[in-house]
Amino acid sequence: MQEILFLGAGNMARALVAGLVRQGWPPASITVCAPHAERREALAAAFGVHATPAQAHAITPGSTVILAVKPKNIAAVLAAWQGPFRHARPLLISVAAGIPVASLQRALGEALPVVRAMPNTPAQIGAGATALFASPEVNEEQRQGAAAILGAVGSIHWLEDENLMDIVTALSGSGPAYVLLFMEALEDAAVAQGLDRPSARALALQTVLGTARMAAETGQSPTSLRHQVTSPGGTTAAALAVWEEGLRSLAQRALAAAAQRSRTLAPNKD
Ligand SMILES: NC(=O)c1ccc[n+]([C@@H]2O[C@H](COP(=O)([O-])OP(=O)(O)OC[C@H]3O[C@@H](n4cnc5c(N)ncnc54)[C@H](OP(=O)(O)O)[C@@H]3O)[C@@H](O)[C@H]2O)c1
Repeated sequence: MQEILFLGAGNMARALVAGLVRQGWPPASITVCAPHAERREALAAAFGVHATPAQAHAITPGSTVILAVKPKNIAAVLAAWQGPFRHARPLLISVAAGIPVASLQRALGEALPVVRAMPNTPAQIGAGATALFASPEVNEEQRQGAAAILGAVGSIHWLEDENLMDIVTALSGSGPAYVLLFMEALEDAAVAQGLDRPSARALALQTVLGTARMAAETGQSPTSLRHQVTSPGGTTAAALAVWEEGLRSLAQRALAAAAQRSRTLAPNKD
């Protein structure tokens, strides 16, 4: 099993570590590096992985480094790790939103192999959705290594055009928050109409979960499944007429806003 070094011990590192260990990845092959002892030690205690302070760790040749720090910290973190990177030439997988391969390689001082990945937080229960883009320097073995790591925590989708990472970030990277907002809105609306909150929450949750599973397991399109449950003049049709007044244009605006934010995250974008 390849060795994995995480730079960063925040939300995304935790989601990936949790997902990997849950899927049977040996904890002893995973090391987490972050400056604050509290967060990295929490990951070590929870999952049995190694924890180390920033820059106190060597990189093993043939290993994979997962960059999971905030975009604003990337240049400084990679500059500090330039020596070990040049020596070991590991595969770098960056999960940072909006940071292009060229910026990462510039920060490393060399065109080392880089895979950009955009996972999402359901990765922590093995139900993530990750889009991947490989730089030309990534060889087939490294491509398969990246696929094995991200594939252990959910589905993976390779992109051939790096520019599409911004819209993928807007769709699936940020997407869990939209679905949660939708669940909150359904719950609040049902409570406003008199249902008790625990029942509203449980019914909203199972509706989203069951519908997603139905779409996944039948393989039918959302449009086709929706038509099957919408009788003309019925209750569903009454609600859909209201949703159609704004939902699609809101989705367009929301994803455009997220993609635009992703495009502006890189400090020295080409
Ligand atoms: N959250 C999501 O849903 C999501 C989805 C897709 C992609 N991402 C991407 O994942 C990345 C991390 O996001 P996050 O939500 O996990 O952020 P976060 O919770 O703020 O975690 C950032 C981590 O970076 C660490 N760090 C800062 N400076 C460091 C250094 N010099 N060396 C090593 N580690 C350092 C911090 O260390 P301390 O703990 O010691 O402070 C912290 O553990 C971002 O680039 C984001 O775009 C996030």
